[in-house]
Amino acid sequence: MKVDVVIGLQWGDEGKGKIVDVLTPNYPVVARFQGGPNAGHTLEFNGKKFVLHTIPSGIFRPNTLNIIGNGVVVDPAILMGEIGKLNAAGIETKGKIVLSKKAHLILPTHRALDAAYEAAKGASKIGSTLKGIGPAYTDKTSRNGLRIGDILQPNFLQKYHTLKQKHVDTLNQLHYNTNVDEAEKIWMQSVEQLRQEFTIVDSEYDINEALKSGKKVLAEGAQGSMLDVDFGSYPFVTSSNTICAGACTGLGIAPGCIGEVIGIFKAYCTRVGSGPFPTELNDEVGEQLREQGHEFGSTTGRARRCGWLDLVALKYSIMISGATQLLMMKADVMDNFDAIKVAIAYNINGRQADRYPYEIGAPITPVYKEFKGWKQKIADCRKEVHLPKELMDYIKFIEQETGVPVKLVSVGPDREETILRQTCRNAG
Ligand code: GDP
Ligand code: IMO
Ligand code: MG
Repeated sequence: MKVDVVIGLQWGDEGKGKIVDVLTPNYPVVARFQGGPNAGHTLEFNGKKFVLHTIPSGIFRPNTLNIIGNGVVVDPAILMGEIGKLNAAGIETKGKIVLSKKAHLILPTHRALDAAYEAAKGASKIGSTLKGIGPAYTDKTSRNGLRIGDILQPNFLQKYHTLKQKHVDTLNQLHYNTNVDEAEKIWMQSVEQLRQEFTIVDSEYDINEALKSGKKVLAEGAQGSMLDVDFGSYPFVTSSNTICAGACTGLGIAPGCIGEVIGIFKAYCTRVGSGPFPTELNDEVGEQLREQGHEFGSTTGRARRCGWLDLVALKYSIMISGATQLLMMKADVMDNFDAIKVAIAYNINGRQADRYPYEIGAPITPVYKEFKGWKQKIADCRKEVHLPKELMDYIKFIEQETGVPVKLVSVGPDREETILRQTCRNAG
């Protein structure tokens, strides 16, 4: 069996949580492979709304095993907080989640360092979610990090204090005054709960054994391809590989195990935090997208920047990950628009470019193609034939430009507000 990989093709918040929840009935195993609590994945069903940060979005289905893979960075306090909220809402989590021994820990001082580094950057700050992601991955790659498996070792506290002291020294050098005592208390209690209540495993074995025994696995990406540490608009990126390749290193599966690469995109674009955004709309149209799309961060509540669909960036993301199918989200947000634009190229210093540029500082003027709006409510549509012609024209243009089929159209946040297109046998 294969691992199908769901990834965001834009700057995150494309609707990955909803899609993983919709697809999960076909997958006995769902696995997160990178990122950490910087993610906020929203699911809506039966009139209820949940936001997940660390826990895979398969948790609401009774027979799905949810794996938090080695590539994820885990803050035990946030993880246990999520478990508590789910249990309080009557969602059973016991026996449904396993955690990789090799996943790295986010310490309270990682969060403090995140804040200190952002403060030091001043106006050029990244706009991090301040969950400690960058500092935790930095410790991982500089070989100083602590892993989940360490909490099972007798010398865990000693290792913790050694690393914490390093962080405190750095915070002092940065003249960043903070007190982590309270956070540390909760963190240590959560570590104890992890030890007692969680199944901590060599998840690479679990996944490969699941595949061998004929079980399909769905890998749930976090963030988006344009925030990838290698291919995003560096340095305005996150600190992990958000692209499909991240699933191999973040789960311990061979490239040949990858099946479908399911690329999720919004019918327009959003970005939260700093960094280049060529099609950003700082006008009433951008405001309309934000209002209609409720574009406020699931993790931080920050207003998301909004703009038209960017095909240059989308094609780049599709190329890097080899997306085999596209799923289009949130077209309903543009129901009232007279006209819809899509960037088909960039104009940089008077030259037309169809590549995403290395130099992110240069002013980019997008070259737009305009489409007629459908001016009709689509949230109640449940079949492709019910979708307006103008929307189908828009979708067909995207397919023609990218060469990849749009196999699903999402018309609202709820699980049910989803249209599988006729050709869409494998996405569902
Ligand atoms: P993720 O991080 O990729 O899982 O996405 P988020 O949950 O951060 O943001 C997506 C937001 O859009 C959430 O509030 C979803 O409930 C909502 N959403 C998902 N699909 C649709 C859709 O097709 N239409 C509308 N209007 N909202 C959607
Ligand atoms: P999901 O999984 C949108 C952005 C932050 C910031 C940059 C670095 O919900 O799509 P970090 O906290 O990683 O140091 O932040 O990346 N960012 C996201 N934007 N969705 C996310 O996750 C994001 N995770 C990080 O806003 O610009
Ligand atoms: Mg999100």
